Amino acid sequence: VYVITEPCIDVKDRSCIDECPVDCIYEGPRMLYIQPDECIDCAACEPVCPVEAIFYEDDIPQVWEEFITINSEWFEDSVTGLDSPGGAATVGPQDVDHPKVATWEV
Ligand code: F3S
Ligand code: F3S
Repeated sequence: VYVITEPCIDVKDRSCIDECPVDCIYEGPRMLYIQPDECIDCAACEPVCPVEAIFYEDDIPQVWEEFITINSEWFEDSVTGLDSPGGAATVGPQDVDHPKVATWEV
């Protein structure tokens, strides 16, 4: 699974969205989140991010490891409740970030 990390916060370049063949990159107010059950590990998103925010889960710098949980929890009932909607285009941008991202100081 690929994961979006801290450099995306307040940047949201969105180049990654255009690359994903399964449309599993979803938008929150401050950053984007990858749906871990929908990501097919195609890796197309990783090189296009201008701030290098996207990593394969095993390659995430240690300081940003909590973003594995942040990406997955964003889809749970405690945050958006989106679960696995099967495509970001159909649900559109959401108005809530993961609580840790909402208060993250960049
Ligand atoms: Fe964020 Fe990079 Fe995508 S800044 S929106 S992860 S291209
Ligand atoms: Fe999409 Fe990136 Fe996964 S392009 S399928 S989110 S590796």
